[in-house]
Order: sequence, then C-alpha cells, then structure tokens
Amino acid sequence: MKRICFVVCFLIGATQLSAEDGYRLWLRYDKIDNRETLNEYRALITTVQFPGGSPVLDAAKKELKQGLEGLLEKKINFTTDEKNSSLYVGKLSAPFLRSAVTGKDRNIGNEGFVIVSKKINSKIVLFIAANSDPGILYGVFHFLRLLQTHQNIRQVNITTSPKFQNRILNHWDNLNRVVERGYAGASIWNWHLLPGYIDRRYIDYARANASIGINGTVLTNVNANAQVLTKQYLEKVAALANTFRPYNIKVFLTARFSAPIEIGGLKTADPLDTAVQRWWKDKVNEIYDYIPDFGGFLVKANSEGQPGPQNYKRTHADGANMFADALARHNGLMMWRAFVYDIAATQTTNTESQGIAALAYSLNDRIKQAYNEFKPLDGKFRENVLIQVKNGPLDFQPREPFSPLFGAMTQTPVMMEFQITQEYLGQGTHLVYEAPLFKECFDSDTYVNGKGSTVASVIDGTPDNSSTDSHRQTGVAGVSNIGNERNWTGHPFGQANWYAFGRLTWDYDLSAAQVADEWLRQTFTNNIAFVEPAKRMMLTSRETLVNYMTPLGLHHIMGTGHHYGPAPWVNNAGRADWNPVYYHRADSIGIGFDRTEKGSNALSQYSPEARKQWEDVNSCDERYLLWFHHVPWSFKMKSGRTLWEELCFKYNTGVDSVRWMQKTWLTLKNYVDEERFEQVKMLLSVQENEAVWWRNACLLYFQTFSKMAIPPIYEKPNHDLEYYKSLRFPFAPGNGGL
Ligand code: GCU
Repeated sequence: MKRICFVVCFLIGATQLSAEDGYRLWLRYDKIDNRETLNEYRALITTVQFPGGSPVLDAAKKELKQGLEGLLEKKINFTTDEKNSSLYVGKLSAPFLRSAVTGKDRNIGNEGFVIVSKKINSKIVLFIAANSDPGILYGVFHFLRLLQTHQNIRQVNITTSPKFQNRILNHWDNLNRVVERGYAGASIWNWHLLPGYIDRRYIDYARANASIGINGTVLTNVNANAQVLTKQYLEKVAALANTFRPYNIKVFLTARFSAPIEIGGLKTADPLDTAVQRWWKDKVNEIYDYIPDFGGFLVKANSEGQPGPQNYKRTHADGANMFADALARHNGLMMWRAFVYDIAATQTTNTESQGIAALAYSLNDRIKQAYNEFKPLDGKFRENVLIQVKNGPLDFQPREPFSPLFGAMTQTPVMMEFQITQEYLGQGTHLVYEAPLFKECFDSDTYVNGKGSTVASVIDGTPDNSSTDSHRQTGVAGVSNIGNERNWTGHPFGQANWYAFGRLTWDYDLSAAQVADEWLRQTFTNNIAFVEPAKRMMLTSRETLVNYMTPLGLHHIMGTGHHYGPAPWVNNAGRADWNPVYYHRADSIGIGFDRTEKGSNALSQYSPEARKQWEDVNSCDERYLLWFHHVPWSFKMKSGRTLWEELCFKYNTGVDSVRWMQKTWLTLKNYVDEERFEQVKMLLSVQENEAVWWRNACLLYFQTFSKMAIPPIYEKPNHDLEYYKSLRFPFAPGNGGL
C-alpha cells in the first residue's frame, strides 16, 4: 500500500512539475497550487468590470483575462456593467472609482496606480485605479503579481508610482544580430523579417517589460551603425514601435555621430555646421513621420573610437545640443553618455608594468575622465538632454564606488546606467543576482546636500534635492541581457536581473530580498522550502563573485577584449589604461591604486564627507581598499590578518561559497522542473571551475610580488602560473561588436 501511494504521489508530483523551458519568464500564470489560496481568490474574483477603448487598455485587459484564467483556472466574466462586479479596473476620473478610492493618495502621477479592497454591502470589492492608461496597465500587472505570489488581497492597500520617468533598456545589439557583451544568443531583432513578420517574441518582450515598469528601449548598440537611420531600417523600427506601443514602451535609437557623412553625403559632422544641423533636423522629422512617439537618441561619442564633437574641437555640450534641438519640437530625449576617456592616454602604451604605473599617476587616471570632461559643462546642456552615467567611474566592475558625477552636476539631469548583462560578472554562466549591486549604488551617500543625499535621491528628481527640480527629466538605463535563446537570458537566473532592474527602477526602496522573493515565486514556485534557500543563494551571490574575482577593491583584472576569465598579468594592451597592471599596480611593496592626494587624487572628485570614508587607509571601507590605496602586503586588516592573508581568505571564501550554492541547489531538486534544475546545476559546476580558476590565477600571480606563501589551510592551486597565462579563448562570446 505504502509503495502504491509512493508511486502515485510521485507521479502527481512529476506531472505538476511539467517541463519548463523558461520562455514564459515570471509571467507563467499556472493554476495556483495552494488550494486554500486558490479558493480564496476564486471566491473574491468573479466578475470584472474593465472598460476598454484604447490599445493600452485592451492590452491590459487581455493580460488580466489571460492571467486570471490561468491562475484561477476558471472562466472570468468581463463586463462593462457597473454593478455587481468583484473587481473594478479603470481611471480615477470615473466617478465610481473615485468615490471608492477616496482617501487614497492621488498623487500618483501619470504612471502610478492604486490597488485597494473595500467592503461594500458586506462584500469585498477590489479596485485597480490610475490616472492614465499606462497606470492601469502597470496596476494590472502588479495585481497579477500579487496573485502569483499568493498575497492577501482581501486587505490590499497599495499606492505606488515610479521614482524615475524614463526606465529604459539599452540593447547593445548590432544590425548583424551580434550582441556586444551578449551571452544569450543573437539579437532578438530580426531585421531581415521585419517589418512584415512580427515575431511573437516581440509581444512577449513588451509584456515582460511592462510587467516590471520598463517604458523605453534603445534597440541598437552604443557603438552605433548609421544604417539604422536609413528609410529601410526605419520602416522596421516603426513596426517594432507599433508592437510595443500598447505596452507603453517607447523606442529609442543610437545615433552615430558621423551619420551625416556616412549616410547623408556631407563632408563633415561638425555640430556647429548649419548643413549638419539641418541634416539632423530633417532626419529627426523623418523618424517622427514613421514613429510619432519616438523616444529619442542615445549617443556614445568620443569614446573607444566612436566619433564625436571633439573630432571638430567642439564640446560634448555642442554635440548633445545639436541633437536636442532637432528632437525638442517632438518632445524627444537626448541621452548623452559620459562613458568617455581621455585621448591623451592612448599615447601612454608601455609594456613594462612599473613604467605604466609611474607614468599614469602623474598623467591621468582613467576613472577621472568623465568627471573632468562633464563637470565643467554643467548648465550648458539643453533641457531635453540627460547625461547617462555608469554606476561606477570605471566600467561596470563587480564592485565600484559610485561615480562622482552623481550629485556633481547641479543644473543637468544625470541618469544612471547599470549593466544587466554580466560582462564582468561571470558572463553567461555565473549565478549572480544583481539587485544588491543596484541597491548598493542607489543607496550610496554622495553627501552633496548633507548626509542622506543618496545617489538615488540626487538623480530621481525629488524636489528637495538641490541638484534637481521636479520638472526635469529623470531616468535609469540598463544594458540588456536579452538574446534569442529560448529562455531569453541564457542562465535561468539571468532573468532575475532583468526583473530586478525593472522593479528597483520603479522603486529603489524595495529590498533586494523582496524582489528576489517575488521573482522566485513567480518563476519557480511559492513553496517556502524552495524560496528561502534559493533566495539565500541569490542574495549572497554577488558578494561571492566579488570574493573570487576582485576582492577588497581590486578591479579590471580580466582577460583582454573578451573580458572572460582572470588575466591580472596583462601589460601589453593598446592603451595603458586597458591593462590590468595599470589598475592593480602590484609591486614588491604592496598592491592597489593610490587615488589619494599622493596618487591620482581621484578622491578629490567626491564631496568632502564622501571622501572621508575612503581617504585614510586605516579607516577606509575595506570593500574599496585597493580601489583607493596602494597597500603594503603586510598591512593589518580589520580581521587581524595581513593584506596578503586576507586576499587568500577572500578568494577562498568565494570558491567555498560557490560550493555551498551547488550543495544548496541539489537540495532543491524536488521543487524545480528537471529542465531548469539540470541547467542550473551544470552552470553552477562551470561557475565552480571558473571560481577556482580566478582564485588560483590571481593568487599565483600576486604571489610573485608578495613573495608570501598561501596559508596551508587553503587548497593548493592545481596548476602553475604559466599554465593560467597560456590559456586562450577563441570561443569567448560577447566581443563580436568590437
Ligand atoms: C565596455 C564594454 C564595451 C562597451 C563599452 C561602453 O567597455 O566592454 O563593449 O562598448 O563598455 O559602455 O560603451
């Protein structure tokens, strides 16, 4: 009997965990598997009153119907009849909704929403209300999230609106469909089949973005190709824009600065040349003929070989303003990137590591460039220009302090750029949850207006922050990790980073844990026996990666070009500041980049109070120690260990933590469908190998300077340094655009 029960139970379990390829992301809408919750929701949601009438409302209604019918596994009656519905969806301007949600904070702007329950004639009635169609769309998705995560909706009372106006994905997708720094296959934009063929994926992409509040997408790589601005491509772009519009998503393009020469037949792209200005005005007008709600441009100029205004001895402001003027009459936005670094540095190539170090201290520190170039231009940009600044001053490293440009430009809107794709975070194979990284940056205190001037608060447009006023543009961009792999992001947990980007950009006050919790419940299961351990894996994963890659403030010690794997020994790259040796500066005395007054003085770009937390080597937050200081190998750390011992400890802790993740994942087998379980299991094994590789290669290399032994309590490297130096990776992905 026992045996029969076992077999039957096993079969039931197996059918419940049906095959799952990850395509549905966090919008699975499978029948709620908790009977009590299901019954409660079934009783509460019977008839829905939802007036349609616009493409956005129709999309929202369709989503609600699909979601409810899946989750509750029953037919839901949609009606326009005002009486006797159990769920009302609509605008706050409708008298019935207005009276129902009185007392609620109506200050929810254009995209916010209210979800509230009320007892009317001793019956619970639910309301989703907003000022606009997009607000309703976001409210519907949030309501479905409440059900998917089994929340109590009997007493629901939510009022929320986004903290930033522009919440934008940046695709680094080339027109040949190679995605720069992409680890999930080819670009999802099938330029060959557009505009005639609208892949179902485009709609699901839009749904996924809308569900987390993303309202803009830059379709093309910042290393731009002017061809996308030609008529042939604009027709295709328009088809995508039409597909995304019902989901409140605007399309943006990258504009190649030299396009007037390349596709316009002009001799110059000088932003002060009237023929060039005319060309861009005409081009912008043409784009708006195709796409009346076109979002605007994103431009990378005078950076890593991209052309820009400096080619004509003009400033970034001259360049940005030329585009801004062309876009202004259509209310278009000009997002101008501050990821620039000095041309002079290209001349400092040197093959001898100590030589580079000495030279570069006296010249320029790459991380100072953006501030040096942009701060003097503050106030010189048109109103529709946003300066897009990477979260840290270097380049999306596993850990960087916040960029000093946040809070420094008091008269210019500055927007955040995060990198969702894991270029420096283990690429396609490492489980790294990025919400803690996003939060760490948002929550960092710039002190520009006294204590509590967090990065988020100086860029979100909060009226009390002196760098802002409530009318200006605000925004956050995330470099997408999406490709045409069936599950969108390659690593199943990569989806969590797309999700977290959207959720935290809507509301950075959400905790990383809450966002992970929501994502896990929607993507896998609500079973707490799964959610809690999986959440612990996610929440510690970023610190784990920092430990086995770049602990204690180390940075930029990865392989050249593809950026895959460790290569701290590299000293022959085309520019001095592309070399790992330029950044770690290991020598017989110690390791780290002195950015105090005695060194590059990059610290001076921060406000005095912010500086204080880092400027003294003895009190510096150890997470940033080697970012700001050159520290002797025998320096006493807070743990009591020497710096060398601490490095050994951190690298080994990182490896141990990956092994802990592996063990934890094995215990979750019964809660995950086989497909995704096996996929994550295999990837964790790759991650473990690579963590060991990072640890061994880095410790063996740094040991040539410290001349100290790796303490015997730790595993011995299984190869010598020469072996690690000899490794080559012709197959490493993500670099095709360069
Ligand atoms: C990094 C990345 C490049 C990218 C650049 C950018 O350097 O490796 O591929 O083009 O950032 O942000 O522009």
